[in-house]
Amino acid sequence: MKASSANLELKEKAGIAAANLIENGMTVGIGTGSTVEFFVKELGRSVKEESLSIKGVTTSHQSKILCYQLGIQVLDVGMLDEIDLAVDGADEIDYSLNAIKGGGAAHTIEKIVATMAKKFILIGDESKLVDRLGLDTPIPIEVIPEAVGLVQKKTKALGADPRIRMAVRKDGPVISDNGNFIVDLYFKQLENLSEINNLLLSIPGVIETGLFIGMASQAFIAGADGVKVLKVEKEGN
Ligand code: 5RP
Repeated sequence: MKASSANLELKEKAGIAAANLIENGMTVGIGTGSTVEFFVKELGRSVKEESLSIKGVTTSHQSKILCYQLGIQVLDVGMLDEIDLAVDGADEIDYSLNAIKGGGAAHTIEKIVATMAKKFILIGDESKLVDRLGLDTPIPIEVIPEAVGLVQKKTKALGADPRIRMAVRKDGPVISDNGNFIVDLYFKQLENLSEINNLLLSIPGVIETGLFIGMASQAFIAGADGVKVLKVEKEGN
């Protein structure tokens, strides 16, 4: 369900702009996706050429492999409870910096890493900015395979059209890095994001949603006029 690779130049600009925030000694949460790939490549360049010393906390096999390839030291996410900063892409971002994530099926670990970060920063090209979340992009949920029938019934009752995400170069469903299914929830209307998030999390077998509400303090959004930094006030930021 990944978007096309359009806007790669803008994604690169956003990724590089966020990499400029990283300082020696930081523990850095590293999201997943094509925009994050540019962020990590820039970090890898600084590690190699400028002796930047950081520790990466990765959110997926994708970002872990990339860090290893680029010589960025990686810490075990499960052994940590706080990190300095996390940077991640998103499928949609609103002007309050709420986001939908999970286009790459990595949102569960992404949310864990974003929550333990003192600062969580979103990066994206301008096509990701929307007035209202969830009307053009489904909300992904990670679901234990045994619960997928129940989850489909319960999410239909909440007004969603639930679709099990199917793999592209594998028969059958997408299996997340954690061994679970992803169900994409298509809504025609969405009034209260926090309420729908809580209702989804209350269904047995739903591990995590792709709704990131009130988590980011900044977003680096690249457009034709350059990279804009959007900020919201958050305690401690
Ligand atoms: C992965 C994600 C990604 O950050 C999101 O899908 C954006 O991806 P891209 O940077 O490739 O557009 O949430 O689970």
